[in-house]
Order: sequence, then C-alpha cells, then structure tokens
Amino acid sequence: MERNALIEQARQAFVERFGREPQAAGAAPGRVELLGNHTDYNQGFVLTSAIDRGTAVAGAAREVPQARVFSQGREGVASFDPQEPRHDDAAPWADYVKGVVHELNQAGAAVGGFDAAVVSDLPVGAGVSSSAALEVSAAQFLLTLYPHPILGDRMGLARLCQRAENDFVGAPTGLLDQFSSIFGQAGHALFLDCRSLQWRAVALPAERARILIADTGVKHALASGGGYRERRAQCEAAARWFGEQTGQPITALRDVSRETLEQYGPRMDPTLRKRAHHIVYENLRVEMGVEALTQGNLGAFGEMLNNTHESCRDLFENSAPEVDALVEIAQAQPGVYGAKITGGGWGGCAVILHEPGALAGLSEALAEGYRARFGRDTNLLPTVAAQGAEALRFE
Ligand code: GLA
Repeated sequence: MERNALIEQARQAFVERFGREPQAAGAAPGRVELLGNHTDYNQGFVLTSAIDRGTAVAGAAREVPQARVFSQGREGVASFDPQEPRHDDAAPWADYVKGVVHELNQAGAAVGGFDAAVVSDLPVGAGVSSSAALEVSAAQFLLTLYPHPILGDRMGLARLCQRAENDFVGAPTGLLDQFSSIFGQAGHALFLDCRSLQWRAVALPAERARILIADTGVKHALASGGGYRERRAQCEAAARWFGEQTGQPITALRDVSRETLEQYGPRMDPTLRKRAHHIVYENLRVEMGVEALTQGNLGAFGEMLNNTHESCRDLFENSAPEVDALVEIAQAQPGVYGAKITGGGWGGCAVILHEPGALAGLSEALAEGYRARFGRDTNLLPTVAAQGAEALRFE
C-alpha cells in the first residue's frame, strides 16, 4: 500500500478505537535481504532493500502514565505502564512496542502515557521483517510524542530497535532488519558492513529490475527461533575454533579468509565447516554482487542470488522444500535475473529479481507450479526498493 494511505488507515483506526484524533504517527517498511544471508550477526556484509509495504502507528499522548496499544487484525489491547513495560501473553505482538518503549527510556527519552493504533500490510512471520517494521514505526511515533535526539541518530536508533528485539523480545537477530527499515532509499539497495556500520546505497533502478517476493505460507518449527539460535551458536563455535587453531584474533566468521577456510577446514567438524563455508563465501558474494550492481550488470548480480540460494540449501541448511521449489520455478523463467531464499529461513519467502516485463509470466508459473506441487497457493508480493521510515505530527 502507498505510504500515505497506510498512515491514513492508522489514523482512522485510532479515531475509531479511541474516539479522538491522533497527534503523531510513525511509518516503517519491511525489507528484503538481497544478499548476505545470516552474515549480519557474523559481523559480515549484507545487501538489502526496504520494500513498499510496511507498518504505521498513529496515536496521542495521555495525561495518565498508562499506554494502550491495539493492532488491527490482532487480538487484545496491550495496556501497560510505559515506565515499566512487561510481557503479557494476551498480546505477545505488543512485546515489540514494549521493547522499544523500554529501550527509549534506557536512552533517556522518558516515555509517558499514550494511546496507539497499529496497521500493517506486511505478512507476519513470512521473512519480510514485520517485527522490525513494528519496532521502527513505534519508535518514530514515540519520539515524535516524546522527543529525544536519538531520532536524528539513525544508526543509533536502528541499534536501539535491535536491542528491543534481542533483549526484550528475546530473539538473537542481527542488525539487518532494523537497518533496512530505517535507511531504505527508493530505487536503491543498501550495502552494510555489520562490523564498522559503514553503509552505502547502490542503484537498483525500478525501470530495469523489479523484486517479487513469493511467500510459501509455511513456517517450519525451526523457523520460530530454534534453528536461527542454533545456526548462530554454530557460527560462533566455528569462529572460536578457527581462533584456537590459527592463533589469530578471530572474533567472528567475518575474520576468516577463504585461504584460512581452505587450509583448516578439512580438519573441522563437518557441520561447523559447512556453516563457516557458507558465511565466508557469502560475504564474498555480497562484495561481488555490489560490484556487479554498481556496474549495472544485473545478470552477474542475479547469478550471485542463485549461488547464495544453493549455499543456503546445501551448506547452511536453512531452506525448505517449499522455498527451493519457488526458487527453481523462478530461475527457469525468462526475464529472471536470479532468485534465492530471504530472511531467517525454514520457510518464509523467496526473493526473485526480474525484468519489469517478466512479472505476468513469472507470477503465473509460480502460482501454477506451487499449487501443483504443494496443493496450496503462494502469496505473491511484487515490490520495488522503497523509502525508509518516517515520522509526522498531525497538527
Ligand atoms: C532474520 C534476522 C536478521 C538476519 C536474517 C538472515 O531476518 O532478523 O537479523 O540474520 O534473518 O540474514
């Protein structure tokens, strides 16, 4: 949905629920990871883009130190003391908002009472970062009601929202999602070095390349935290192993070169070796992909996406048959540059980069192929690289 329409929907939802006009709103997009799967928490490289779908929060301050938040299409109103937000099983989705409130207070923002309505056109749990969009839109909204200089420090705000997810919600994710949602630029992909936090925008013009996100609609058990947590632990164990073996200061797989991997890899535990192999080469693929994109070579760029998918499927083992099928169908279609899994894995979405004119045929092939194989529909979300988060006051 168009950004202004989403904000307007949040405004209306607020008016209906609370019977007054909102004072402020925040809006933030979802994201699609183009290259750099699971590299972020290994202090490596990612190439990402914000998408033209997202979440909007509209609301107003209250005089009493009490917060009430509801989300269209979800059960329950979250009622809490903004100075002391706590988990509540009746509205678990609100943990993302509460985590942000908690972190803003820690940063010195002194969040007081407020009412808020949340609307979103992002599928939940599909791997397009509905959680980061909620965190970031809530932060934008709250900082407009209760101003604090962190609103101007975009990287600081991305990290604050990441802490909300890591420490309050308890998901050990990297910085990819929050960074993408805040820094998104229309017509551009974003390269981020997750160690130095240096970033730059790389043109991804909509006239030449469109993004199709194909949602499998499945979420395997491993997706809800277990697999992600395990992969992260394996990557950390692999980095420690390389450090011990080489005597070099290796704090993350980012520090392992291709040469070190080839030299020491054969002596390594085979599972850890596969995980390390994926990360070491995935970082190289991000660098090569950025190079290709900078030169406008979409064919070479698409090839990187295809290679990444293969590596996720065979080495990192975080794909799923449903994602593999969508990727394979897409790769066989004319006008497709490349396709891969996107996000944490074990279900969720495939991302396909294609020529603008290829959308109709591609969509048909995906819809038919997926239905024939799995007996249900894939949800197709055509998108383009879009603008990042914003905040506004209604008065
Ligand atoms: C999830 C996490 C991100 C990142 C990706 C995989 O989306 O939230 O931090 O690790 O998986 O690249």
